Amino acid sequence: IFNNIELLPPDSLFNIKQRLANDSRSVKVDLGIGAYRDDTGKPWVLPSVREAEKLIQEDPSYNHEYLGIAGLPTLTQGAARVLLGEDSPALREGRVVSVQSLSGTGALHIAAKFISKFCGDKLIYLSDPTWANHKAIFETQGLKTANYAYWNAASKSLDLEGYLRDIKAAPNGSVFVVHACAHNPTGLDPSKDEWSSILDTLAAKEHIVLFDSAYQGFASGSLDEDAYALRLGLKKLAPVTPVFVCQSFAKNVGMYGERVGCFHLVLPQQDAAVDQKAVASAISSQLARITRSELSNPPAYGAKIVSKILNTPELTAQWYKDMITMSSRIHKMRIALRDHLVKLGTPGNWDHIVGQTGMFSYTGLSPQMVERLEKEHAVYLVNSGRASIAGLNSGNVEYVARAINEVVRH
Ligand code: LMR
Repeated sequence: IFNNIELLPPDSLFNIKQRLANDSRSVKVDLGIGAYRDDTGKPWVLPSVREAEKLIQEDPSYNHEYLGIAGLPTLTQGAARVLLGEDSPALREGRVVSVQSLSGTGALHIAAKFISKFCGDKLIYLSDPTWANHKAIFETQGLKTANYAYWNAASKSLDLEGYLRDIKAAPNGSVFVVHACAHNPTGLDPSKDEWSSILDTLAAKEHIVLFDSAYQGFASGSLDEDAYALRLGLKKLAPVTPVFVCQSFAKNVGMYGERVGCFHLVLPQQDAAVDQKAVASAISSQLARITRSELSNPPAYGAKIVSKILNTPELTAQWYKDMITMSSRIHKMRIALRDHLVKLGTPGNWDHIVGQTGMFSYTGLSPQMVERLEKEHAVYLVNSGRASIAGLNSGNVEYVARAINEVVRH
């Protein structure tokens, strides 16, 4: 019965990792998957994570028991505070329902299931371009996706006019997936003024906004600054519409493989006739059913580490420093790459590499150039031209600039 199953192509992002592992050249550079590397090119275990692990393992009550279905409450509550802010009206008013998820992808999956069950036939609007997995996650749940304008390739800037036009053209009450900060793949975030017009236009159409927050702390180095759009969004949208938030701790805690994340649903401010508590409980029960039927209960170890960091003031302070270490090293590499390209006289303007934010640069290199970078120089990046700047270090940045210079010129 399985003889005619279609063979699918390998995942375009994870296949880069595979090709790189199989490459026997002595000098090779990984600018593929977005994962932080230190200046020697090695994965970095954050000092805050090491300390949290130590405290957890030294605790006499250390064990590997199951968590509850909704996850570790000290994680989900701490995570909500990190995103929404200590003084969040939504938290104070009991309008936030939170559950632990399998990192950001798991949170998006929960959102997709919830939307397909309770939101009717809504179209899911994704930025053009967006993270490669967004479309697959929503479509796997039978939801239809559409694109909204985002990136102006000619000017390498935000297509604000197209973005607002597409928000207005979408049927009222559609779902818009927006990147809370450090847009993946473009590294281009709207300015504060642009966010204000985008969110006003979304609110006027009563669209449901889903904030995908995978890089909080990576854009500016500050958690509060990187939650700007989300918090403004709650002010402008949540009086009327619910807001979904998918939160990943893969990148900002550097625990990619532990799959720690949360899904938060922020309820609108309803009139006194609605029993807000009962609505929140019903939603909680539905989210629990989704988790129970798929993973029974979420993984505990990574959740305990992040919870320890969020709930121990000295570790929280260390974590803030760790995020600055990561974001400032990436920024330094942006400047170094741009400066080397300028010094080499590489045709084109490369300032966008420095202007972009988060882990990625949308370099503007064509798929043919990307292919040559890999074949001729063992420099690996996504064929859209997205480069993970975290893969650069002081030992390889000049090599990468020379390789780019060569493929751009010839
Ligand atoms: C990326 O975009 O490189 C990361 O988010 C890795 C992934 O899971 O796709």
